[in-house]
Amino acid sequence: MNAEPADSEIRPGLVVVLAAGAGTRMKSDLAKVLHPILGRPLLGHVLAAVLDTKPRHVVVVVGHQREQVVEYVNRDFPQVLTAVQDEQNGTGHAVRCALNALAADGIELGDEPVMVVAGDTPLLTPATLTDLVSTHVATHASVTVLTAELDDPFGYGRIVRDDDGGVLAIVEQKDATPEQTQIHEINSGMFAFNPDTLVDALNRLTTDNSQGEEYLTDVLAIARSDGKSVSAHQGEDPDEMHGINNRAQLAAATALLRDRINAEHMLAGVTFVDPATAWIEPGAELAPDALIERNSAVDAGSSVGSGAVIGPDTTLIGTQVGAGAHVLRSHCDGAVIHEHATVGPFTFLRPGTELGERGKVGAFVEVKKSTIGPGSKVPHLSYVGDARIGEGSNIGAATIFANYDGEHKHATVVGDHVRVGSDSILVAPVTIGDGAYTAAGSVITEDVPAGAIGIGRERQVNVEGWVARKHPGTSSADAAASSKSTE
Ligand code: UD1
Ligand code: CA
Repeated sequence: MNAEPADSEIRPGLVVVLAAGAGTRMKSDLAKVLHPILGRPLLGHVLAAVLDTKPRHVVVVVGHQREQVVEYVNRDFPQVLTAVQDEQNGTGHAVRCALNALAADGIELGDEPVMVVAGDTPLLTPATLTDLVSTHVATHASVTVLTAELDDPFGYGRIVRDDDGGVLAIVEQKDATPEQTQIHEINSGMFAFNPDTLVDALNRLTTDNSQGEEYLTDVLAIARSDGKSVSAHQGEDPDEMHGINNRAQLAAATALLRDRINAEHMLAGVTFVDPATAWIEPGAELAPDALIERNSAVDAGSSVGSGAVIGPDTTLIGTQVGAGAHVLRSHCDGAVIHEHATVGPFTFLRPGTELGERGKVGAFVEVKKSTIGPGSKVPHLSYVGDARIGEGSNIGAATIFANYDGEHKHATVVGDHVRVGSDSILVAPVTIGDGAYTAAGSVITEDVPAGAIGIGRERQVNVEGWVARKHPGTSSADAAASSKSTE
């Protein structure tokens, strides 16, 4: 933003976040402001931006589906207050409800600016809010509205200015004259108010408009007619002001936020093969020289080290990936993958998985609550659950750690440099000692001491001439008869 840098003393005394509306157009049982984009509800994005401006108090006005909204706010933003607006009589009425709730709590407004923002504008940035409040203070205005020039202003309130460019009023789409609908400068729904002006004007709002509501926007005309100064601050990025009303706008805002986040990571040294299909949540940590392949997602609780490659087609949830590791076409939830380890393709790492340095978990392997030591490998088609595997061990293809007896889960311990034969079943609780082997196809129910081989299977029996007797005249019988390799 190119406004003067904010004076560090300038901060809002109060921010009112409007979130009482019905959100009818979402057609959802979930409150509109709780619909997530990139892992965080719309309201959470707004509150994060608001709290970044260090306001003294924040109040969210709730109404429709208020139990859900209050629960979310109390859980994720315990420092934020809520105020109930029982009937949605308009944005002006909503702000009055917030002020009444504060007063009931004995909280005084003071002299600092009061800001109002909508709870459904997830792309809002702290810089824009700070800009708005510093412009408001610097211009000594009694009201400052954040505006934007939109190519398609339909549906928004329009900023009506006089011949000198002074703001006269905001006129809602439904109340606008044909001439006023030609105005492209719109009300973002975000304001900074002088507290006295706000309180006085809120008490004088009428419902004399096409929606029969008390419009917050009428505060401007009231202040203006009282001879107070009203100013408009045009924001630089109209995208920030998009309110979400339906699922199409939800998806569009998600894409914009994705692009914004990815651009930041790219400037910080992360390579994205296809930024349009990389979904990095706010809070995810990507080190410089990490490489994000196409169709991959990294959630807020995950981190990716330098030189690590994620994807294509990989999802990381609460997963830490060390430097130089490679996670290919896999789903990892609650895992720790150490430096230079490899995972995938088609691997499922579940919570409690820890894969040691240069370890490998390969194709079609599922791992749960298990530690796989440095350099150890589970290359193909296996299930590893509740196991502790030492270093340098190899788990043969199609090995199953049978950890569940139908009632309880049990642990398996595999030592260092163990060789588990293909298609082994390790029936927990069981321990395979250091350097031990198991024979392919074994069902291992007893501990195998260090250096031993555990063989848990029947010996093979060959019945000579069986095919010729049981399936005479078949192609198998013919092949056997003409075989030169018999005997
Ligand atoms: C409002 C503005 C409009 C602006 C637009 C920006 C008014 C009268 N109009 O219109 O000038 O261009 O936002 O997006 O302010 N809400 C309540 N209680 C109510 C009514 C609304 O809490 O009684 C909340 C809604 O949940 C929403 C916000 O206020 O978060 C805006 O309400 P909405 O009905 O979406 O207003 P718009 O018609 O979009
Ligand atoms: Ca509306």
